[in-house]
Amino acid sequence: MNPERPCPAGVLFPPRVLAALGAQAARFDVQWVAECASTNSALMELSAQPAGSPVRVLGAARQTAGRGRRGNVWQSWPGASLTFSVRWQFDRPAAQPAGLSLLTGLALARALESFGLTAAKLKWPNDVLVQGAKLAGILIELPAYRASDALAAVIGIGLNLDLPPGTQIDGQTAVASLAQHLPATPDVHELLARILLEMAGLFDHWQDVGFAPFRAAWQQRDAFRDQSVRLFDGQREIVGRNAGVDDDGALLLDTGSGVQRILAGELSLRASS
Ligand code: BTN
Repeated sequence: MNPERPCPAGVLFPPRVLAALGAQAARFDVQWVAECASTNSALMELSAQPAGSPVRVLGAARQTAGRGRRGNVWQSWPGASLTFSVRWQFDRPAAQPAGLSLLTGLALARALESFGLTAAKLKWPNDVLVQGAKLAGILIELPAYRASDALAAVIGIGLNLDLPPGTQIDGQTAVASLAQHLPATPDVHELLARILLEMAGLFDHWQDVGFAPFRAAWQQRDAFRDQSVRLFDGQREIVGRNAGVDDDGALLLDTGSGVQRILAGELSLRASS
């Protein structure tokens, strides 16, 4: 593909992403395809990578079987969405991979803020919201590993760039697009590179020191802080006040009879009566 020509809708040109990554380009192996079932599934199928391998980045203009959290379908459209996954090979075993999920949301929010988005909020564990509507979702999956193995994680991101007005997505109350909230949509190569650089900066630090130093930055952007929420863990619903997150990224839910640490579940705002 000629780098001077505009790419077909939703197709990124990897050399332009590498150019935008600058001095960090050698850390990444970027591939883009017109179509695949799911970029997360494709990277989960790779065999184990040796320590020091580049971060594999796979994006697709169209996914025929995009997957969301909790078994949901992820819908996206060529050019209207940025859909990609990275397979990150860490240097050492991580005792608390839970914080990684929150940290990815923080990296995405910070990348978007660097392009002028002022209203990015995070919904535990890692949805990015703008004015209560979902702008981006993150799906993290861990390839099978033994306790002694260095951690590898496949991290998939679906970011709404410019959905047609009125788009409704199954299972989501409201969706937002980046184009609605920025005067100009950023160049997608620059945007992807900025997201990767934010991830690299935060992940490098995280594997040395854990999630605790990032807790305040996450909580500053907490969409539901101190609000009355409900948490569905797949079996039961717990209601309470969202009291922030713990040092390992667990959600703290004040139920009135004590604070519960929540490690998994779907959070929503409780309608005020
Ligand atoms: C969510 O439910 O909020 C997570 C959505 C994650 C979607 C992305 S799009 C790229 C990657 N490939 C997938 O199949 N899913 C993730």
